[in-house]
Amino acid sequence: MNVLVIGATGDVGSEAAKFAVQKGHTARALVRKTSNRDKLGEAKDRIEFFEGDMLDKASLEAAMDGMEGLIISIRLTPAEVEKGRTYQDVELGGIKNLVDVAKEKGIKKIIHVSAAGVGPHCVSDMYRAKHQAEETIRHSGIDYTIFKPSGMFKDFQMFHIPMVLKLGETNTWPTGPLHFRMNPLSHIDLAQCMADALTNPAASNKSFAIGGPDCVMQGDFLNMIAKEAGINAHYTEGVSKEQLIERVKANPQKSFFTAEQLQDFLNDSIIDHTPIKETFGITFERVEEYLKKAVPEVKAALAKQQK
Ligand SMILES: NC(=O)c1ccc[n+]([C@@H]2O[C@H](COP(=O)([O-])OP(=O)(O)OC[C@H]3O[C@@H](n4cnc5c(N)ncnc54)[C@H](OP(=O)(O)O)[C@@H]3O)[C@@H](O)[C@H]2O)c1
Repeated sequence: MNVLVIGATGDVGSEAAKFAVQKGHTARALVRKTSNRDKLGEAKDRIEFFEGDMLDKASLEAAMDGMEGLIISIRLTPAEVEKGRTYQDVELGGIKNLVDVAKEKGIKKIIHVSAAGVGPHCVSDMYRAKHQAEETIRHSGIDYTIFKPSGMFKDFQMFHIPMVLKLGETNTWPTGPLHFRMNPLSHIDLAQCMADALTNPAASNKSFAIGGPDCVMQGDFLNMIAKEAGINAHYTEGVSKEQLIERVKANPQKSFFTAEQLQDFLNDSIIDHTPIKETFGITFERVEEYLKKAVPEVKAALAKQQK
């Protein structure tokens, strides 16, 4: 299949593009001048690059010429925010543009990444845009597979692991609740499912909540990190969702997320891994395996920074 990848220089999109090429698809990537093409590794030489932007419809028309499938893995990045763009502009407006052009060009299949917990009840700019984008795709008349992932391992490397290492021996997690469950997953496993969904009839016209095989409580997950790092920490005290939201409302400029965003994505949730296993037949990386690799890596990187 001839596939156009939008977000091919992002974390998830680059892996999905690599799997698509590996599976024998012909891939084209919509990139900007500033996009990091090296993210595609060796697949870079087997992918055609097309300069454009989701908010520039003319560039999408040119990029979609001759294409049959779309893989969409985009988000409002800090660089987009600097341009004055909002969730509404990029995560909804961009998707509307893509769907309009996809209809014109006779695209047969759309693969899209949203997030777990996104739905009509959401109150934040981020999740409302994601929900409306999902709806735009579902009502496009084009065959689709929408993936709604739980938290991804790659983000734990940025925040949870360094924070546990920094806190050392303690029982207090100062930044959030301990009793929420999640099914963390590797973005590489997600990407493999995305590439498979291009041609897998069992994934046709479906939206999948997707998580890994392990359902873990946040507190237990932090204890696992500490154990792997050889730190004698056992987390028993957290900050409730309500307390966190009140804190952010009192000092909005100090928080990375808004109160509404926390309302939407801080939720106790269990994702059944069975439909994913049955549909894609992929063995996902387990939390324990991931931590065995990631904790020493983060430790080494922090030690290097301190030198
Ligand atoms: N991280 C998690 O735990 C998690 C959990 C659930 C869902 N998700 C969702 O998964 C999706 C993928 O996340 P990610 O971490 O892979 O994102 P990422 O690495 O930040 O990649 C985002 C991609 O979007 C592209 N993009 C942004 N604005 C664009 C525009 N106007 N025109 C064309 N391309 C544009 C970027 O292009 P450039 O490379 O040119 O900047 C980049 O390639 C997101 O929707 C995210 O919300 C993530």
